[in-house]
Amino acid sequence: MSDVYQAIANSNVGKKLFSAINLPIPVLLERYSPEQASFVSGDVLVGAAKGGKAVAAVLETLKGAPEASIKTLAGMATEAEVQKVSGGTGINVDNYTASREDSQKFKALVLDATGISSTADLKACYDFFHPVIRKLEKCARIVVIGRPPESCEIDQRIPQRGLEGLVKSLGKEIKKGATANLVYVEDGAEPQLMSSLQFFLSAKSAYVSGQVVRVGASDYDAAGYDWHKPLAGKTALVTGAARGIGAAIAEVMARDGAKVIVLDIPPMADDLNAVASRIGGVALQADITAADAPEIISNAAKENGGLDIIVHNAGVTRDKTMGGMSDKFWDMVIDINISSEERINAQLLKDGSLKDGGRIVCVSSISGIAGNMGQTNYSTSKASVIGMVQGMAPQLAEKNITINAVAPGFIETQMTAAIPFAIREAGRRMNSMNQGGQPVDVAETICYFSSPASQGVSGNVVRVCGQSLLGA
Ligand SMILES: NC(=O)c1ccc[n+]([C@@H]2O[C@H](COP(=O)([O-])OP(=O)(O)OC[C@H]3O[C@@H](n4cnc5c(N)ncnc54)[C@H](O)[C@@H]3O)[C@@H](O)[C@H]2O)c1
Repeated sequence: MSDVYQAIANSNVGKKLFSAINLPIPVLLERYSPEQASFVSGDVLVGAAKGGKAVAAVLETLKGAPEASIKTLAGMATEAEVQKVSGGTGINVDNYTASREDSQKFKALVLDATGISSTADLKACYDFFHPVIRKLEKCARIVVIGRPPESCEIDQRIPQRGLEGLVKSLGKEIKKGATANLVYVEDGAEPQLMSSLQFFLSAKSAYVSGQVVRVGASDYDAAGYDWHKPLAGKTALVTGAARGIGAAIAEVMARDGAKVIVLDIPPMADDLNAVASRIGGVALQADITAADAPEIISNAAKENGGLDIIVHNAGVTRDKTMGGMSDKFWDMVIDINISSEERINAQLLKDGSLKDGGRIVCVSSISGIAGNMGQTNYSTSKASVIGMVQGMAPQLAEKNITINAVAPGFIETQMTAAIPFAIREAGRRMNSMNQGGQPVDVAETICYFSSPASQGVSGNVVRVCGQSLLGA
């Protein structure tokens, strides 16, 4: 659905008028296109708190961005750690002397905060961000890297947890379509940072801000990895793929090189076939709640050589407050949105039609995090999805299978077009981007989780919500 407010606000007349009366102007977000040579282009400022262990991995990742120019802050404590390791990575890091007057702009700021081990050390965050935070380009990126607080001793745990507050507040301050995200990396897992850094520094994360991702150890080797075709040679199945977010997921997965089986209910056959033929995929008509659906999906998987990726996207809303809700609405939403996913996972794991090293990606919702008036059934189902992700991640690790979820906020689809005008406008504007997200934003995040390079990324829930105030 088109956003008329955004279109007017970005017209020549609209810009002047909206600024004069202080109305928000939702920036036209930069999104990925295969023509982009580099996952980030322009000046990237890198800093590291004393004792930082992730800076080498940051520089190694930036080697894959030929259009990025790397700088560090001269004369700051965060400079020394960067210069110490840059020689070893063979990457050229220029010193930038901070000045309020110059016209320097940065496309990205990356702070390795893994060395922060006391609350006094948090000053490195101020030292790094204060001189440059007003020097961001449109749609700039901030990434902070820390240690998972739960695996730290208490003195380090306290400030590491503090980084969440820093990043979420930065996300709300920076405007102009910029994002700020936090990556907690386990000690020793730094080489696994690549896929998360690429995602959060690139236009693929246009509508993802204020999020926290945990990266753990894995034996994934990035040799031969292609950022433009990360899913080459992979087979994926996407449920609810005839339209909306599911169709976008199928398209982006095909763009990224995957063979995609698209599934939807028989009444959606025409739309489903259209998606399948657009992406050169395979259409599979099935109702995921049917008793034989797990078997049908497993058979389709086997006929296509087994699945590397399953995306549980199909979902419905049947909104009523608890007192007015029929048991039919309750049962239907729980069955489609969570129980069927459990049954399908059980079958695919039992008979190996989801291969070892596979990816399970689920679609939750910010309604499952924050709750919503009139959505007790939906919020319960979507919070259950989060429970499934968190519960299954450790169990699946022995098969090198990862499981993660996206939690979309307000995404422009037929589902949200049906929301009454006033509530729809509130949902669209009450986030750091002042606009709704596009289905492609959810799809890009799902492809990040699905990438072979995300082997160390499991048990996460990432909101694709433009840092919505709902449930923040
Ligand atoms: N649009 C949003 O703003 C938003 C926000 C948060 C979460 N989500 C979630 O994203 C997912 C996709 O949402 P959407 O907005 O694209 O919705 P949509 O209604 O446009 O598409 C959902 C698709 O799922 C299919 N489906 C429904 N029941 C099915 C069943 N039993 N078996 C097989 N397929 C079935 C539908 O036919 C449809 O094609 C859902 O899980 C939804 O809960 C959407």
